[in-house]
Amino acid sequence: MILARQDGGSENRRPGAIRWMANLAEIARKDREMKVLVTGGAGFIGSHVVDGLIALGHQVVVVDNLSTGYPENLNPDARFYQLDIRSRELLRVFERERPDIVNHHGAQMSVRVSMQDPLLDAQVNVLGSLNVIEACKAYGVSKLIYISTGGAVYGEPQYLPCDEAHPVNPLCQYGATKHMAEHYLFIYRKLYGLNYTVLRYPNVYGPRQDPFGEAGVVAIFTQQMLGGQPVIINGSGAQERDFVYISDVVRANLLALRSGDGEIINIGWGKGTSVNRIFQTLKAITSYAINPVYAPAIPGEVFKICLDPSKAKQLLDWQPCVTLKAGLASTVEYFRSHPNHYVAHSFSPADASDLPAPVQSFDISHAGSSLRHSLPWEPIACPQPSYPER
Ligand SMILES: NC(=O)c1ccc[n+]([C@@H]2O[C@H](COP(=O)([O-])OP(=O)(O)OC[C@H]3O[C@@H](n4cnc5c(N)ncnc54)[C@H](O)[C@@H]3O)[C@@H](O)[C@H]2O)c1
Repeated sequence: MILARQDGGSENRRPGAIRWMANLAEIARKDREMKVLVTGGAGFIGSHVVDGLIALGHQVVVVDNLSTGYPENLNPDARFYQLDIRSRELLRVFERERPDIVNHHGAQMSVRVSMQDPLLDAQVNVLGSLNVIEACKAYGVSKLIYISTGGAVYGEPQYLPCDEAHPVNPLCQYGATKHMAEHYLFIYRKLYGLNYTVLRYPNVYGPRQDPFGEAGVVAIFTQQMLGGQPVIINGSGAQERDFVYISDVVRANLLALRSGDGEIINIGWGKGTSVNRIFQTLKAITSYAINPVYAPAIPGEVFKICLDPSKAKQLLDWQPCVTLKAGLASTVEYFRSHPNHYVAHSFSPADASDLPAPVQSFDISHAGSSLRHSLPWEPIACPQPSYPER
């Protein structure tokens, strides 16, 4: 097991870094400094959560196998282990680091991969999560914040917006495997007193989202529009999703450090926006001139979904505040100023035979430096909460 750390103070100029302090000062005042282990901390959302935790003064340890995450997303003030969450070596990381809190973002998060290779999907999302939960139990972690998916666990909604009492009827393997860990958390709390909060995310978007993934319609459309390429809309485009900007999602994670114990909590606006509407808004922002190409809908995806955030307001004092218009404009600005940030991953679902994954050495100070960009990310002010414009 190799760990790598780059010392020398915060480096606030990493691509996609958002300045948090103004919005988070209130949270910071209430929390003592803790050590937080973040799985998936090199990924889109996890890396922003790491940044937020470090901005609040917490110590952060990242565990990520870099299967879909990027070295340049890693915060140099975090301690990084390149490790698969399925690995037995995870216990050694816990033994060494003794985290107070675990924030579990690492996952196989592709619906398509989950259908093509359900065994891999289950190995990572079920067995990998169970491995994380077992390590939390073994080393007395005070709380596990588990990231689930409101977009995939409910299936086609019986009513909208979906609250947490809505039946769970996933339409794809990914939704089922993400939900499975919620059951284990319930059991481990009852049997062993392991505390948790489950956050069920909607469609999260913003800087650092991978435009080469198959999820993340905002990142994909933006990248294609800025490159003058054709944009493909799967289905009619009338399908609706609940789009929440990344800084709002990070704030939910930070609030969950000290609230929402033993609860499953939706994150969302409670209102959907159609994919056609996303296309039109991005088209206007980027001055894109080409009409979309319509292709068959993707099997396993629901038609309309949005998540009721009432419980998040009640238990976490959380509500979204970055409007869709502001969030999309900022996302476009990010992709415009970082045209070569991402390279396509050659992630192959066939690597399920890799178990347990070998632990490789990795040095962030070398791998990241050539990839980092010097342009600072412009912050978004957090205005009064308002519904995203449609
Ligand atoms: N992006 C969304 O809109 C969305 C919506 C609902 C839920 N989620 C959940 O949020 C979390 C983060 O998603 P994201 O969009 O940032 O995706 P991402 O692919 O950018 O991040 C996932 C991270 O986990 C790492 N990872 C994957 N398999 C691993 C393994 N076996 N061991 C160690 N690390 C591993 C990847 O390298 C990557 O850094 C996931 O749990 C996902 O299910 C995301």
